[in-house]
Amino acid sequence: MANPVVALAGASGDLGFRIARALIARGADVRALVRPDVSPAERTRLEAIGLDLIQADPLDRDALALACAGSTCVVSALNGLRDVVIDRQGVLLDAAVKADVPRFIPSDYSADLTKTTPGQNRNFDLRREFMARADKTPIKVTSIFNGAFLDMLGAEMPIIQPRIHRVLYWHDADQLLDFTAKDDVAAYTAAAALDDATPRILRIAGDSVSARDIAGTMERGLG
Ligand SMILES: NC(=O)c1ccc[n+]([C@@H]2O[C@H](COP(=O)([O-])OP(=O)(O)OC[C@H]3O[C@@H](n4cnc5c(N)ncnc54)[C@H](OP(=O)(O)O)[C@@H]3O)[C@@H](O)[C@H]2O)c1
Repeated sequence: MANPVVALAGASGDLGFRIARALIARGADVRALVRPDVSPAERTRLEAIGLDLIQADPLDRDALALACAGSTCVVSALNGLRDVVIDRQGVLLDAAVKADVPRFIPSDYSADLTKTTPGQNRNFDLRREFMARADKTPIKVTSIFNGAFLDMLGAEMPIIQPRIHRVLYWHDADQLLDFTAKDDVAAYTAAAALDDATPRILRIAGDSVSARDIAGTMERGLG
């Protein structure tokens, strides 16, 4: 039987590259949708893990539709604000619909934005707007809600402040926060992309811990 074909936008990115590796590890043929001006070094890096590169202008629906044709799922790992999440990803969605691709995974990979209040978080609002748009198309969409990337704890996510021996929280020290490691999000996304039975929303978490739990862990580890 032929390998399943998955088209991937954003393979050059942090999560996208991890999703690409995870898809290949699961036996998929992965078409990386890259810009026409992709650099030779980037081409080499992507091809080295076994990706098929298809160059297409990210705003050219028809070129992207040709690139997506025959794939069973289009996965987006794009990152940005309105011009990317709504505009660029919207062209990708239209291309997938035009090419009769049955399934689409948008670049959500966030906390569960169906449970947050509109107007309080720009990134969630953009993804919610995209969800509404995608749900008007005939394509079967799966959103993946994984909480925060675990890898950001102690890095981009400044909850842990070792210098002043503090763990920060907002409102409630016992509120549970979902965390999932980037590679686990990628593995899960790859599994979902290859499974036709995935539902509209997949909620996952490597672990759910509160700020108080994190403080306890830090205290036990570091004194
Ligand atoms: N839950 C969390 O804690 C968490 C943390 C970080 C990220 N995320 C999410 O994970 C997804 C991927 O994030 P990432 O950090 O892997 O992304 P990234 O590496 O910053 O970028 C991924 C791709 O998005 C495209 N892109 C980035 N900036 C752009 C711009 N200004 N204009 C047009 N295209 C642009 C590029 O694709 P091309 O190379 O094809 O142009 C890039 O390779 C996003 O949905 C992001 O919100 C979640």
